[in-house]
Amino acid sequence: MEIFHMKPLNYSLTIVIIIFFVSFPCFLCSLQFNATVTTSASLPLLPPLPLIPSLLNFLDQRLAEIYPIIQTFKNSITADPLNITGTWVGSDICNYKGFFCSNPPDNESATTISSIDFNGFQLAAPSLDGFIDQLPDVALFHANSNKFSGTITDNLAKLPYLYELDISNNDISGSFPIPILDMKDLSFLDLRFNSFSGLIPPEIFMKDLQVIFLNNNNFMQPIPENIGSTPALYITLASNKLTGPIPRSIGNASSTLKEILLFNNLLVGCIPYEVGFLKNAIVFDASNNQLTGPLPCSLGCLKKMEQLNLANNQLYGEVPEVLCALKNLENLSLSNNYFTKVGPTCENLIQGGVLDLRGNCISGFADQRTEEECSTFFSQPITCPYSSSLKLIPCSTSGSARSPSTNSVKASGVTKTSWVTYQATDLRHRL
Ligand SMILES: *[C@@H]1O[C@H](CO)[C@@H](O)[C@H](O)[C@H]1NC(C)=O
Ligand SMILES: *[C@@H]1O[C@H](CO)[C@@H](O)[C@H](O)[C@H]1NC(C)=O
Ligand SMILES: *[C@@H]1O[C@H](CO)[C@@H](O)[C@H](O)[C@H]1NC(C)=O
Ligand SMILES: *[C@@H]1O[C@H](CO)[C@@H](O)[C@H](O)[C@H]1NC(C)=O
Repeated sequence: MEIFHMKPLNYSLTIVIIIFFVSFPCFLCSLQFNATVTTSASLPLLPPLPLIPSLLNFLDQRLAEIYPIIQTFKNSITADPLNITGTWVGSDICNYKGFFCSNPPDNESATTISSIDFNGFQLAAPSLDGFIDQLPDVALFHANSNKFSGTITDNLAKLPYLYELDISNNDISGSFPIPILDMKDLSFLDLRFNSFSGLIPPEIFMKDLQVIFLNNNNFMQPIPENIGSTPALYITLASNKLTGPIPRSIGNASSTLKEILLFNNLLVGCIPYEVGFLKNAIVFDASNNQLTGPLPCSLGCLKKMEQLNLANNQLYGEVPEVLCALKNLENLSLSNNYFTKVGPTCENLIQGGVLDLRGNCISGFADQRTEEECSTFFSQPITCPYSSSLKLIPCSTSGSARSPSTNSVKASGVTKTSWVTYQATDLRHRL
């Protein structure tokens, strides 16, 4: 999957097959194991037995040091319906289910846990504290669809190699985990489908992240003004409780941003002219908000745009012909707004099944709002700031446009699963 190759791995993820020899009396060894298994199965709340790692023979000193951390975490697990931890026994840590070994960057001849993939394991534990933050060489931590709860520890920032953190679809709460802001090499951050609340810290958009998935939490307050500083390619802020307008700075992300999901929030205000600067964007979805105003003509500069969804807002005016002329549009969803006018290029898109204008105020069109609904809406005056920018088109549109006569339909058979950010709105999806 593309995600895994966005940044070259610091070190390879080959699973090292460990051959070890038990160099001490066997009865001692099996005695210890039986004791552990009994304890964790029947009395999970007791503190771990004082297992002495020196009685086991580890491939590497680093694994010997990690062993008691894993066993302590194992003892804290309150549910394991797939019996994952049944394999977390003995010194062969590299073959524990979910753990992967390789050579750490600071010592090519050492062997350590470099990667953890608990995706879909359904493990429950009251906290990840004292676990991930104590695995000093871990570079990837993926734990989609478990039942980990608690908050995220400050010690996380001390992990020097961690660059992918996925704790999506768990029960983790609290405010945005501030330690994440201090993680130097983090490039992939996936906190979606948890119970995080409070504000999204502006610093997150100053970090060198390629992926920021924060959808389906309880984040509140306005989107930070500096969102456009982000070098991220994929951003999902959908299905939170974000308020305020779409910041004008978003246009500053023009050379990098490919996909952004803002839907199901409480966003207000007019769509800023600067959205039209996003020349590399292929997905922009701000549906189900309270956005208003006319569409800026700058949207006609979104030359790579495939999915533009602004349905279920309070947008009005004429749908700009330059927007409908974009060649790569597969889905332009403007249903349930208050648009009043379309030109021939847009009408053509409706015919082609690309443009959806149901539930608007266009006279003579089928499936529109009632006259009463429309006149009630238009009786309230709305003004947009920078209204003079609405008609500006900050790009050359010649040659790029589809002509009104091409009834080009790219939409048929295209599913949302082709886009990275829409995949992130499926709670079980593992990236
Ligand atoms: C769990 O897995 C271990 C190791 O594979 C096995 O020995 C044990 O019997 C399993 N326990 C259950 C309850 O299935
Ligand atoms: C590198 O790791 C190997 C294997 O654990 C160890 O024997 C060696 O002392 C380490 N080298 C350094 C410089 O730490
Ligand atoms: C980012 O965008 C804002 C608003 O459009 C602008 O004022 C600011 O100068 C931009 N910053 C950079 C670094 O381009
Ligand atoms: C366009 O997107 C909307 C909103 O996600 C969806 O309901 C609709 O089926 C899509 N239409 C096409 C033609 O893909």
